[in-house]
Amino acid sequence: MQSAASPLKNNSLHRSVSADAVRLISLEGGPISRFTQTADDKPTVAGYLSGDAEIPAYLEKIYWWTYVRPWAIRFFERQWLVNAILFGNYVKLRDGALDALGATLPGKTLQIACVYGDMTNRLYDRVRAGDGRLDVVDVLPGQIENLRRKLPPSAHVNGMVMDSAALKAPDGRYDRAILFFLLHEQPEEWRRKTLAEAFRVVRPGGRIVIVDYARPKWWSPFRYLMPPALALLEPFALDLWRSDVQAFLRPPAGLRSLARKTVFGGLYQCVVIER
Ligand SMILES: C[S@@+](CC[C@H](N)C(=O)[O-])C[C@H]1O[C@@H](n2cnc3c(N)ncnc32)[C@H](O)[C@@H]1O
Repeated sequence: MQSAASPLKNNSLHRSVSADAVRLISLEGGPISRFTQTADDKPTVAGYLSGDAEIPAYLEKIYWWTYVRPWAIRFFERQWLVNAILFGNYVKLRDGALDALGATLPGKTLQIACVYGDMTNRLYDRVRAGDGRLDVVDVLPGQIENLRRKLPPSAHVNGMVMDSAALKAPDGRYDRAILFFLLHEQPEEWRRKTLAEAFRVVRPGGRIVIVDYARPKWWSPFRYLMPPALALLEPFALDLWRSDVQAFLRPPAGLRSLARKTVFGGLYQCVVIER
């Protein structure tokens, strides 16, 4: 089994968050008991409660105003706004990703990074219908707290503060994982490690669903309009225009299949990997 220790720890690209800061966020967010783990998940409880979280420098530097600051979370947590940013495609992309995972989701499902809007609520509905279990990881405690506020009080969802590039989970723990618009935000090093970690924690025969940007077709106006905006606001996103998702994947021997579908003139892609 691969080590669950952070391969990026002590990397200069990380900014440490003090234990006090994390505790403060936990207290401000109210009781976190619903997010504590069941007995077989002790490491993630420790990761959350001990404040063992480091914010990747790219998040603080580029995405401080969209994900990191508490006021940013309050501002962006509006589905109509995220839908507008996605040019009206939120529901189509959300449902496409969920359908690619399955109508009912028994076993263990992992959502890698929080998403604004109701995607996790809808995912949870399918997990509950399958009598399964849902874990959500995010590197920002504030995002996990925000998720807790969105979910119904009765929802049994495990929110865990973790870097997607260093998941504290054993190999093959999950039946499936979903990454919704995470990869384009990450520098290549993180993206590769995130994909490798998703592969590691999903069991052979399991499924990984990725929704993200892609290069639009030649006839789409977005092919010409988006690059300046993305270069300014999301500097790593154009990597996904230049290369297929597979390029960032060092597939272990067991990759069974990879299917790719694009929507909205190719600006978005949904990649389904059978592990
Ligand atoms: C999934 S992405 C973007 C989703 C989409 N734009 C939306 O919200 O509709 C945003 C989330 O990714 C998280 N994130 C970014 N880098 C991460 C990392 N290395 N590990 C875990 N979470 C990360 C951020 O904290 C944020 O909550």
